[in-house]
Amino acid sequence: MSSSDFIVFGAPKIDQDEIDEAVRCLESGWIGTGPRVARFEKEFGSYKGEPFAAAVSSCTAAMHLSVLAAGIGAGDEVITTPMTFCATVNAIVHAGATPVLADIDPLTMNIDPAKVEERITAKTKAILPVHFAGRAANMDALTEIATRRGLKLIEDCAHAIETEYHGRKAGTFGDFGCFSFYATKNVTTGEGGMVLTKNEEDLARIKMLALHGMSKDAWKRFSDEGYKHYFVVETGFKYNMMDLQAALGIHQLRRVESNWLRREEIWRQYNAAFGGLPVTLPAAPEANTRHAYHLYTILIDDKRAGIGRDEFLDEMTANNVGVGVHYLSVPEHPVYQEKFGWRPEDYPNALSVGRQTVSLPLSAGLTDAEVSRVIEVVRNTIIVKSKGRRSNGLRLKSREQNGQLCAQPLT
Ligand SMILES: Cc1ncc(COP(=O)(O)O)c(C=O)c1O
Repeated sequence: MSSSDFIVFGAPKIDQDEIDEAVRCLESGWIGTGPRVARFEKEFGSYKGEPFAAAVSSCTAAMHLSVLAAGIGAGDEVITTPMTFCATVNAIVHAGATPVLADIDPLTMNIDPAKVEERITAKTKAILPVHFAGRAANMDALTEIATRRGLKLIEDCAHAIETEYHGRKAGTFGDFGCFSFYATKNVTTGEGGMVLTKNEEDLARIKMLALHGMSKDAWKRFSDEGYKHYFVVETGFKYNMMDLQAALGIHQLRRVESNWLRREEIWRQYNAAFGGLPVTLPAAPEANTRHAYHLYTILIDDKRAGIGRDEFLDEMTANNVGVGVHYLSVPEHPVYQEKFGWRPEDYPNALSVGRQTVSLPLSAGLTDAEVSRVIEVVRNTIIVKSKGRRSNGLRLKSREQNGQLCAQPLT
């Protein structure tokens, strides 16, 4: 097997339409923020059924701007999940606010509303849930808490482009919905993000902050409509999306459903193939919701599987299967321990998931042969190791019992 047989984790499915649009964009002479970004915003907004959408450079930028636009800053607290990418927490910190963690439900891996309630103080200004792996967070409970306690709700929808919950689309529950179009995401622009807002004022502020704090439509200043003066009204950021990125996004979005169907099919194949293995599979999607099937994560408990999570990761890589870890719980990282005094053991559910979880390839671009290969490598690894563990257990026990064989494995 050559290195070209390596299955890259999260490899995007880029078709000819994206390539042609990118070439047309390059040839147009307008590659920065312009008409293609405006089109992508409009089409993404229509997909979500929301009129107010601002394209930005990343989901991290989307969340940073949302926290600022929510009027949150120094002295304020924002409650989020320990089972997320560092960007969720960093966005809160960049806005000058203090992140506060509430542990997850171990089954859904989403923030536990009861734990959120426990962490609310007089300083709490917002809840920032993540729809982990594409599974909707408990939005009934979170929306109820936010309304009752007068808190803003900002959704991290990095995994949740297609996610729906009780008839509503992810990103439309909160005051702000933040999306990622990073290379591995369900819709990709290479790097990129989107914010959905509930009103025009928030949208205008986000757009202004995303482009240096320059007054409305400053990106049009070099267009054929004649030079337009702009004024800087806030010290903003450089968080705008380029037309070259939107050129990809426009066509990626058109295939969002067919790609989702392909990932659902792979998800089902994995469930069928791994059902009998001594590992924990992702929880079945909740009724009356739509899972975005962004990550297929299995939990490897060395006591059951006969192999530790990290050894399993090495085995996958050695067999040319690219894997991911989503995520080591946030408090495992030294910077947060130093900054906020967080201890991993204070968030036991996130800690346990973070130390056992492995994400298997789930890209819509996987071929049938690649899916079969992932299945074969995972099954072989677990079956061999768990058998080894059982026979090792038998040996140990038989030694204990002076050579008498006992059929009961040591667990
Ligand atoms: C849950 C979550 N939030 C936020 C982000 C940040 O997204 P971006 O890379 O677009 O800034 C990611 C990216 O992987 C993510 O998985």
